[in-house]
Amino acid sequence: MTDSKTIVVGITGGIAAYKAVGVVRLLVKAGHDVHVVPTEAALRFVGLPTWEAISRNSVTASLYDDVAAVRHVALGQAADLIVVAPATANSLAKLAAGLADDLLGTTVLASRAPLVVAPAMHTEMWSNPATRANVATLRERGVVVVGPGSGALTGTDVGEGRMSEPDEIVAAALRVLEASAAPAVPARDLDGLRVVVSAGGTREPLDPVRFLGNRSSGKQGVAFARAALARGAQVTLVAAHLAGEVDVAGLAVIDVTTASEMALAVESAAEIADVVVMAAAVADYRPASVSETKIKKDAEGDELTLRLVKNPDILAGLAAARRPGQTVVGFAAETAPTRDELLELGRTKATRKGADLLVVNLVGWAAGFGSDDNTVVVLDGAGSVVAESAGSKRAVADAVLDEVVRVRGGGGAGVGGAGEPSPSA
Ligand code: PMT
Repeated sequence: MTDSKTIVVGITGGIAAYKAVGVVRLLVKAGHDVHVVPTEAALRFVGLPTWEAISRNSVTASLYDDVAAVRHVALGQAADLIVVAPATANSLAKLAAGLADDLLGTTVLASRAPLVVAPAMHTEMWSNPATRANVATLRERGVVVVGPGSGALTGTDVGEGRMSEPDEIVAAALRVLEASAAPAVPARDLDGLRVVVSAGGTREPLDPVRFLGNRSSGKQGVAFARAALARGAQVTLVAAHLAGEVDVAGLAVIDVTTASEMALAVESAAEIADVVVMAAAVADYRPASVSETKIKKDAEGDELTLRLVKNPDILAGLAAARRPGQTVVGFAAETAPTRDELLELGRTKATRKGADLLVVNLVGWAAGFGSDDNTVVVLDGAGSVVAESAGSKRAVADAVLDEVVRVRGGGGAGVGGAGEPSPSA
């Protein structure tokens, strides 16, 4: 039986409220004491008896019921976790502004419990700058945002904004609950270690004005650099075209453009590094020749054929050459329709690259590249799943660094790493 916790589930007024019944059911099934706090609008979609039956607790949306028990603060004070699903654009705005004009608002404000929100709305509302700003404010305060995913929306619309599935929301909520119960991450478990992180996307020039590139923003790599610094490491960031400025005290940054430049910079920094994390999206190929002048369409006609040659595989090279005590972490950016296929691609890459850990992330038009969040599965060198993480790129970085500390046999300098190159490297 799970250690039972008090979980408040806020339901706001969107059609996805019907899916939130599944969230409440799974949390109850996991052994938790679940209290549903719907808004008045939510009750237009799913009625009060359903919430009471599923949660096995009495439910009200009113600030004025049960006043003697000071319900508007009592629930918030008692909660170990608050989940708001679905979180409409309106409710995200209210949460960001700290409004307390209903029972859910007062409950959230009166609570010190971690907050998980599962947004659900139409694509235009989700991508509206006002919503983006509200979500960014909530994230800055440590709120965990689950989804939204892409798919069918109300009516005939299809796109980003669909509430994540109940099992995903519950898995994320339980991870937050577990993390909040666990003792804080050992503050400086990378103390004295030298860590090299690559971030961003390399660019391969075609001519003086054009290049072949990719959509990596560098957010994941920068999150690794920040996390490693916070855990006591001396960090060098090899940065290829990051989307934003990196102004982090104590961080050494080496800017590069092409895969070849990145190879030189990473290999040189790796000579004295204890841990190398290859989060950069490195071009596998580059143009066989770079034109000294702008390629002219008049001269090329209706079709232009580019001949590409392979770039060095930096990660495979690092893994093959790693010293005893050095830990090499790679990424695998894959597009796959199912988790099984994603893991299969990851396993093949783990064997081919020979790194100690391979962080597999699903990427696509709206996932992985450029986003603030990531969802990863961490494989060991043999392709076995050793960890999973979803959430902000910083949370993912910390979860992977936990694994780095584990494979090294503990925290700080002087502790050995996985060491010898694997036979497959
Ligand atoms: O930068 P963000 O916008 O935050 O997005 C993060 C990310 C999606 C870019 C990141 O999480 C990620 O997946 N990085 C790896 C991208 C990639 O190039 O994946 P890959 O599967 O093609 O390469 C596998 C590994 O080999 C990677 O560690 C890569 O750095 C490395 N590699 C690839 C090619 C090459 N020539 N040399 C390499 O070292």
